[in-house]
Amino acid sequence: MKDIDSRFYRFQKLLSPDAHETLVSTPGLVDRLEHVLEDGADLPLVIDRSHLENLGLVGMSDIDDIVVKGGSGDDAMDNIPLPRSIGPHPIWDDAGACMISDRRTEVPPGPSPRPTPMIKLPPSGERVKASTGDLADIHRSVSETIKFGGGSSLRADHLSGPGGRPRPLAAEYEGDLRVIKDPTSSMGGKSKIDDFRTLFLDRYRTLRDILLLQYGAISPCQDIDDLRSSEEEVRFIGIVESIRTTKNGHRMVNIEDPTGSIRVLLSKNKRDTAALSIVNDEVIGIVGKFRSGDTRGGAIVFADAIYKVDIPIDHRRRLSDVRGLAAAFTSDIHIGSRMYLDKEWRRMIRWLRGEIDASLPGKDGTRVKYLVIAGDLVDGIGTYPDQDKDLLIKDIFKQYEALGESLSSLPDHIHVIMIPGNHDAVRIAEPQPPLPREFQDCFSNSHLHFLSNPAFFSIHGVHVAGYHGKSIDDLVTLFRDVTYENPIEGMKEMLRFRHFCPTYGMRNQISPEERDNLVIDDVPDIFVSGHVHRFGMDNYKGVQLIEGSAWQSQTPFQRLMNLKPQPGRMGIVELDLPNTMHAWELT
Ligand SMILES: [Fe+2]
Ligand SMILES: [Fe+2]
Repeated sequence: MKDIDSRFYRFQKLLSPDAHETLVSTPGLVDRLEHVLEDGADLPLVIDRSHLENLGLVGMSDIDDIVVKGGSGDDAMDNIPLPRSIGPHPIWDDAGACMISDRRTEVPPGPSPRPTPMIKLPPSGERVKASTGDLADIHRSVSETIKFGGGSSLRADHLSGPGGRPRPLAAEYEGDLRVIKDPTSSMGGKSKIDDFRTLFLDRYRTLRDILLLQYGAISPCQDIDDLRSSEEEVRFIGIVESIRTTKNGHRMVNIEDPTGSIRVLLSKNKRDTAALSIVNDEVIGIVGKFRSGDTRGGAIVFADAIYKVDIPIDHRRRLSDVRGLAAAFTSDIHIGSRMYLDKEWRRMIRWLRGEIDASLPGKDGTRVKYLVIAGDLVDGIGTYPDQDKDLLIKDIFKQYEALGESLSSLPDHIHVIMIPGNHDAVRIAEPQPPLPREFQDCFSNSHLHFLSNPAFFSIHGVHVAGYHGKSIDDLVTLFRDVTYENPIEGMKEMLRFRHFCPTYGMRNQISPEERDNLVIDDVPDIFVSGHVHRFGMDNYKGVQLIEGSAWQSQTPFQRLMNLKPQPGRMGIVELDLPNTMHAWELT
């Protein structure tokens, strides 16, 4: 509040002395005026007190006896008649200062509406006091749940306390965020051949342990060097070195472990092995018959069964023990881009404040305790050739400052978890470290968490894997079902391989480390990804999948490639209910 005037510079507005005095003396009025401007109110360059009165903003808090139409105060904001003019949309000039765009929506002729001050609003940002009742009891009464993808309203009716006053449920509980795995400590930035050997050895050992845990049929597991001819089947685990198709249509797979390598034949006539998709660098378990050749190189195993890591069939989604809390998942904000959807992003934040409805009622926004953003927080600079032509903000620090400014409108009770993507100010090779301190300093919220990419963490006991998703660029070439239109199939493949980037050496860059932190050793309950700017929700063997949309409209590159983004959406997950999530979008 120390500099009210500067908060309106981004709208190219100045405050008259009487308007300034009114804003200083009226709690919450600055926020409300900002929201009105964000919604496109057509106000002159200098705003004076009469404009605040005409908008119905002044005096509302004094009109205690005016009845709130339609119930709660959260809904009340929606009852303010919006100005007809969708005014200038703020954009930034090259120096990062705000200027007015020439993009305007034509205003149809007609009388200008005059908002009626008929609504009583709680001061913006004020936490509504909890009732003296037992929240757990209130939420225990929840009887209706809607499975993912459905429902326009959910559980919100249980959120109103006595007198119809909204109670931000998420404000009643402390955040419970725990990092399960942090790859930062093992990031060495080396790039020698030996480091890749170490990396793949770690991948092999971790996935081998998972296979042995999941499939008793592979035990006792032998080293490749110990395989000998016998009537008994051999059992071993190896990493796929190469795959080729024989002239008779069978697949010949070279498998290696730390002791040696061997050829494995997958017969086209064996139903169990013929249909399996296998890729280079994958770790698989093999049971089959060993036949020695004239030389060691001539030895071969005829596979009877192949075991893939995958997600165990008995995986049960962990549940929060707090009723009613939800988490929102999205991705790819791309602040700084000319195509960044500022108005939509800010309206989403208003939904989280419970001020507006979207495809879900605003009341549901007050149950959101966590906002998870899966990378590409900003558009970055130099990410692709001639990117500066597509940038409104050409200074990377100012891009993060703009994001920090928008997030400062979030309610204090929301914990924001952010991982980097390929547009962010970190190295491109995965795993990517969290945003460096100098960029974290661009943010002022108290509950921001900058994690690595990928990130493994839990929120109120529910395990989440967040991965930006750049490896989709490889997966679309490896699997027929994985496409840029349907990237969620790629997320399923990652889970099947228990690795975010199953095959090395394609388009996605991997940094050689002592540990392979792209291995999915912790089975998540929720897996969120992004990068493709599509939106989707699905479930794979009990893991809830969210492809996190974007906050950027179609870019020239996407138009060229015929890629159609689905921006402005989120997946909302009920943390205490299994397999229950909702598609969120503006209405
Ligand atoms: Fe992106
Ligand atoms: Fe990306």
